[in-house]
Amino acid sequence: MTDASDLAALPHPFTWGVATSAYQIEGATAEDGRSPSIWDTFSRTPGKVAGGDTGDVACDHYHRWPEDIALMRELGVDSYRFSVAWPRVVPGGDGPVNAAGLAFYDRLVDALLEAGITPNVTLYHWDLPQSLQDRGGWPARATAEHFAAYAAVVAERLGDRVPQWATLNEPLCSAWIGHLEGLMAPGLTDIRAAVHASYHLLLGHGLATQAIRAAAPEAEVGIVNNLSPVEPATSRPEDVAAARRVDGHTNRWWLDPLHGRGFPADMREVYGVELPQQQGDLDVIAQPLDWLGLNYYFPAHVTDDPAGPPPHAHQIHRPGERHTGMDWEIDANGLETLLLRLTEDYGARKLYVTENGSSYPDVVRADGSVDDPERARYLREHLAACARAAHRGAPLAGYYAWSLLDNFEWAYGYDKRFGLVHVDYATQRRTVKGSGRLYADLIRRHRLRARRAA
Ligand code: IFM
Repeated sequence: MTDASDLAALPHPFTWGVATSAYQIEGATAEDGRSPSIWDTFSRTPGKVAGGDTGDVACDHYHRWPEDIALMRELGVDSYRFSVAWPRVVPGGDGPVNAAGLAFYDRLVDALLEAGITPNVTLYHWDLPQSLQDRGGWPARATAEHFAAYAAVVAERLGDRVPQWATLNEPLCSAWIGHLEGLMAPGLTDIRAAVHASYHLLLGHGLATQAIRAAAPEAEVGIVNNLSPVEPATSRPEDVAAARRVDGHTNRWWLDPLHGRGFPADMREVYGVELPQQQGDLDVIAQPLDWLGLNYYFPAHVTDDPAGPPPHAHQIHRPGERHTGMDWEIDANGLETLLLRLTEDYGARKLYVTENGSSYPDVVRADGSVDDPERARYLREHLAACARAAHRGAPLAGYYAWSLLDNFEWAYGYDKRFGLVHVDYATQRRTVKGSGRLYADLIRRHRLRARRAA
């Protein structure tokens, strides 16, 4: 267990934030001109999402955002990381802009600034307009170009007030889970589509980075990856080789091209798919980054699985270890390891933990309160890991807890709760959990320390 002194090494200044994403909280999927996204389609496909849940209402944030900003104020956060829904802003995927959709984010940004909370905008958190999916989706090069055009529209409108921008959230999930494992939208199981999607997501990132910078020269632009440290489950050479492949699949496939190293040759061989590469693409993908976002949840321990899909490995469950309600192993050291790897191997100049958090089956007590000691412990341990990494030289500038609110957890529906704030979906009543109060307290104490040191 950690105590507050373990967090003393967190740097100053340090951005304390909370994160959400559009489809997971907004609801209002058919309002003010929003068009369907691939997640509307996927969640309506029988058997794809637990309980047949959809994002139709979610946390009703589209109508309740003033209350949600008030909650952020109560927690005392510096920054709010949220995503803009492409199908609200450019409902056709390309072509006409929907003024009402853009106006929603305009109001949100103004109200955040008024509340003293800095907006941090992610342009793509998995809600591709369905009409673009119908024209090929991410496996098609044109989607990357349309993404850049949509990024320009948003940056032109919000760029005078939003200092920090992420192009993509977790392209790994879009490409691998959405196109290879079939467990997320669009639900494909096709290695060629997956590799081409991964390529065009990264190309879209590069093109969008250029577009944001053209529209908002002061903007700090980055990308958010979910990474895991990978270990072989045994010392068998087959498992060691499998761990190398999973590291390639999870980490290097994304980080190497972003840092000008191209796509890893070993993984190209594993996938056996020709890249849809055109001249100049690699330079576009490797735009210099102002910051790099790390989403960290769990480490991976793997064995060889020759019969499985690429990367032909199986992630094992280690029974003796602690796990969250998602059955994800808890290992805060993994966060420290990754922050240092990004610093030492990739030369990161500015890092944010853009997501980190845990799901547990919370219980609302008779008095209406929600006590969640396991989530509070997870939070403290991971913040202590951040402090250790910063102490050892990682240029860590902030931490965003996932998530502000319980929300639509993709294929798991509403069963899995990650919020610092509990949401009663029947009434939309919000209740700050014990972990939320702890977070507020840690923020307050960190600020006090900064003031005393000044
Ligand atoms: O809820 C997701 C989020 O959308 C992306 N990162 C991981 C979270 C927890 O699974």
